[in-house]
Amino acid sequence: MISIRAAATGGSKMDTETMRAIGLAIMLTLAAGGAAAQNPPDAERGKSLYETHCGGCHYGRLHDRPRERSLVHSLAELRDQVAQRAALTGRPFTRDDLEDIAEYLNQSYYRLKK
Ligand code: HEC
Repeated sequence: MISIRAAATGGSKMDTETMRAIGLAIMLTLAAGGAAAQNPPDAERGKSLYETHCGGCHYGRLHDRPRERSLVHSLAELRDQVAQRAALTGRPFTRDDLEDIAEYLNQSYYRLKK
């Protein structure tokens, strides 16, 4: 009996510690997620997303058309266009996906200043 009681006490103590550890792990995960959203955009990743999900309708040279015919004249317009077109695909894109695609298009075609 004594040993069972000791084990039970030990067990409940462990549970508290385990719950603390889980709570800490969740907090760390949230903190890491917040930090990840601030990572610099990844143009290579954007290129592959673009080629997979956007290339079916237009090639990159659409983004080289004369500025007076382009819908993009600022980074804000570029982000806006990317988000609107992404929504048309019906596939869910994360904010990071959109940032990466915009970065790729800007580095490769628009070259708008930040
Ligand atoms: C269903 C076909 C289709 C898909 C899929 C598509 N686009 Fe487009 N996109 C177009 C058309 C058509 C235009 C030109 C619209 C116009 O000139 O009014 C365009 C224009 C754009 C422009 C503006 C170009 C400029 O300089 O004026 C951007 C930026 C763009 N698309 C990005 C994307 C991205 C990023 C994706 C993938 C997430 C994507 N598009 C997927 C059809 C598509």
